[in-house]
Amino acid sequence: MEDLSNKWALVTGASSGFGVEFATLLAERRANLVLVARRTEPMEKLAEDLRRRHSVQVIVEGMDLSQAGVGVALKSRLDARGIPVDILVNNAGYGLSGAFLDQPLDRITDMLRLNMVSVTELTHVFARDMVKRRSGHVLLIASLLGYQAVPGFAAYAATKAYVLLLGEALHQELEPHGVVVTALCPGTSRTSFVEVAGQRVSPLLKMMILSPRRVATVGVRAMLHRRATVVPGFLNKATVFLDRLMPRPMQRMIVGKVAGG
Ligand SMILES: NC(=O)c1ccc[n+]([C@@H]2O[C@H](COP(=O)([O-])OP(=O)(O)OC[C@H]3O[C@@H](n4cnc5c(N)ncnc54)[C@H](OP(=O)(O)O)[C@@H]3O)[C@@H](O)[C@H]2O)c1
Repeated sequence: MEDLSNKWALVTGASSGFGVEFATLLAERRANLVLVARRTEPMEKLAEDLRRRHSVQVIVEGMDLSQAGVGVALKSRLDARGIPVDILVNNAGYGLSGAFLDQPLDRITDMLRLNMVSVTELTHVFARDMVKRRSGHVLLIASLLGYQAVPGFAAYAATKAYVLLLGEALHQELEPHGVVVTALCPGTSRTSFVEVAGQRVSPLLKMMILSPRRVATVGVRAMLHRRATVVPGFLNKATVFLDRLMPRPMQRMIVGKVAGG
């Protein structure tokens, strides 16, 4: 297993789901951690457990990342404590499913700020430092839904298409500067995402479900192996492959039915 001793990893959305698994996998590799989300109680519990089991330093920051300027504020707080971020896991995010016009507009704009603006801001402020040090990793959590238009998940899928394309472009731009950007594109997994998004999990989707631990393991490995993108799971990979062969009207008709929006 890779040794990340003395490195600092910042994991957003570390109060549940994939974020807990990313934090655990990185602590197992002996990275120190900064955990960020709104709910501090679950993160404090996780921090205590990781400190005890892996003898790593863990800092908890309770923050609403959908607020403007939080990335810059977080960077200044960490600078004041002398903490350089070597690994940034941009994971916090949520989905909204159902008819676009039935989704409350303020929820949609909040989701756009969290899924796109805060990801962009955090990547900008922390990758700048990484470039100066000529070393670092940024893992962006996109989605399988980012590969095509998804009726029933219209705005959410569009945010993940943004994350995927941002990640691929930055992989190319930052690689010569020693910084690796990787976009992880999970399909459905067993986290609170499904309830928060109000997703209906169809029988076909059930067959494709992977555990959060499996998804996070694939993401961490791809990041450390310096890959641009990764899709966890054979059926999810096959979906992306078949999608590329289909005309766009057919893609959106099929995926809209399967995604359960
Ligand atoms: N599970 C899936 O099926 C799936 C598939 C593809 C992609 N994804 C993506 O994976 C990422 C993680 O989701 P998950 O599945 O692990 O869902 P989850 O269990 O619901 O976790 C979401 C995390 O984001 C945090 N978060 C939400 N709003 C926030 C805000 N305003 N400020 C700071 N943190 C916030 C939550 O913490 P607080 O509530 O404490 O703030 C929580 O820690 C998301 O980007 C999601 O879009 C999930």
